Amino acid sequence: MLKLFIKSISILFLITFINSAYAGDAEKGKKVFNKCKACHGIDEGGKNKLGPNLWNIVGAPIAAVEGYKYSKALVAYAEEAGNWNEENLDAWLKKPKDLVRKTKMIFPGLKKEADRANLIAYLKANGTN
Ligand code: HEC
Repeated sequence: MLKLFIKSISILFLITFINSAYAGDAEKGKKVFNKCKACHGIDEGGKNKLGPNLWNIVGAPIAAVEGYKYSKALVAYAEEAGNWNEENLDAWLKKPKDLVRKTKMIFPGLKKEADRANLIAYLKANGTN
């Protein structure tokens, strides 16, 4: 009985460890978001700046924030890809112009995988999708 107990506890630890190694950390992502703030707000109901407001963006339809005028390129990408999810957001944040060549988001991208994962966790935390 005790053996079984110890075994399940260690499996639990292992799972927690693996999860924390792979899932992004929203707290760290908040810092990474400083790089986006010049162009993006993220408050619910917040205004669009140079770029659209990013509240609730993970899982949301691409290029669909009200009152924002998107590039034709991103609108075309939206028709093909539909919604933002962790995969296409990761590609977008790595190098926007690699995903959507003529986007008007002038941002070189985040090279570090961990930065992108943390940032995506932060974006998810700021939304209800
Ligand atoms: C220099 C300004 C600028 C910076 C910095 C910037 N963006 Fe953007 N972003 C834009 C613009 C402009 C668009 C609209 C692109 C288009 O229409 O082609 C956009 C679009 C987006 C979209 C698509 C939104 C939608 O409604 O589909 C996401 C997601 C996004 N940005 C995330 C980020 C994140 C996260 C960062 C920080 C790592 C960032 N951006 C940094 C200007 C910027």
